[in-house]
Amino acid sequence: MTIRKVAQLGHPVLREKAGPIEKEAIKSPAIQALIDDMIQTKEEYVGIGLAAPQVHEPLQLIVVGLKNNPRYPDAEQVLLRTVINPKITGFSTDMDEDWESCLSVDNLSGLVKRARKITVTGLDREGDDIEINAEGFEARVYQHEIDHLYGKVFLDRMSDLRSLCFGKEFSKFARLYEPEEEAGDEEQGL
Ligand code: NI
Repeated sequence: MTIRKVAQLGHPVLREKAGPIEKEAIKSPAIQALIDDMIQTKEEYVGIGLAAPQVHEPLQLIVVGLKNNPRYPDAEQVLLRTVINPKITGFSTDMDEDWESCLSVDNLSGLVKRARKITVTGLDREGDDIEINAEGFEARVYQHEIDHLYGKVFLDRMSDLRSLCFGKEFSKFARLYEPEEEAGDEEQGL
């Protein structure tokens, strides 16, 4: 296994539309090695997800997974999965706004609105059909990674760039930008 170099914003591979992987090619040594490398690269860089274009391969392939990630100590766990040719086949209309960052957009975080629940279909690393129903943080991770396959990064999804923060400022000031909580108990019944 090899730790791959992660493309940084400005590299054109991050702005290309990725091509599908033929079902017959999934079990090839080249694709299996790419999947292993992406999982290892994601772990090396302490990411929650990685899309193949981020390692300079314009293919429709993502890996996601989060377990005790020090970059996201309070985040929900996300099951480790490989999804080939993923498609979002269902979106909830309700949205959540939360922080995102990206291994290809070094040291920046910003608030992004995403659908709260989604359904993803695609193939696993054996070439079998899979369907994933995800919500909350996990749904956000899938939407972020699948965006990479269409040449999009989270910055393109921000409705207001004013919440963009560098790492040090994020740890000091993030709270100032967070959406206000829904009406609390004390406001109910008024
Ligand atoms: Ni990303």
